[in-house]
Amino acid sequence: MSSPGPRLARQARQHAEGLARFGVSVLPRPSKRAQLAALAAEVRACQRCPLYQTATQAVFSDGTPQARLVFVGEAPGRDEDLQGVPFVGAAGQLLTKMIGAMGLKREEVYICNVLKHRPPGNRTPLPEELEACQPFLEAQLSLMAPQVICTLGAVATKALLGPYAAITKVRGQIRDYRGIPVVPTFHPAYLLRNPPAKKDTWADLQVVMKVLGR
Ligand code: URA
Repeated sequence: MSSPGPRLARQARQHAEGLARFGVSVLPRPSKRAQLAALAAEVRACQRCPLYQTATQAVFSDGTPQARLVFVGEAPGRDEDLQGVPFVGAAGQLLTKMIGAMGLKREEVYICNVLKHRPPGNRTPLPEELEACQPFLEAQLSLMAPQVICTLGAVATKALLGPYAAITKVRGQIRDYRGIPVVPTFHPAYLLRNPPAKKDTWADLQVVMKVLGR
């Protein structure tokens, strides 16, 4: 009589093959963390636009894959390009304060940008760069599936809500991106240049907190 080990393994394989013929996979699905890591690796190897040639490195995200709140900014600046982490320069420090004012820790949210490579001299992203990078953002947000997205500034707002979504008009409103509520607000870099607008952003962040049920 054959030993049960190989027999059971063969039966399990036949069972899995039978299920696969019906389109049912019994292979464990990679975790959200693993899928995000695979996407980050793709981003690091990206040559879809020329920005990889001038950037130090790609900047994928910061924070936890379990976050219920995702912030989307524009593109890495100089500090982010050097450190490989989004929002770590002056605007990033203000964003961290904004998150703290919401009663959250930076580690509890997820932060990313529309563009993953820094445009030289922090110039405004070109339409072809935005187009090339958009699929990465879409994949990232679809994997994250957060409860709410807060777009920071005009570029991120248009990337998710379309070219007619003017930041001064839509900020503080609850809009929709593929079934996920989106609340646009001003970019922290704009708030550094224009501190009176901080009170508007604080009102917008309260809308975000409401969507989060806080
Ligand atoms: N501005 C952005 O839009 N993103 C960053 O990561 C830093 C500054």
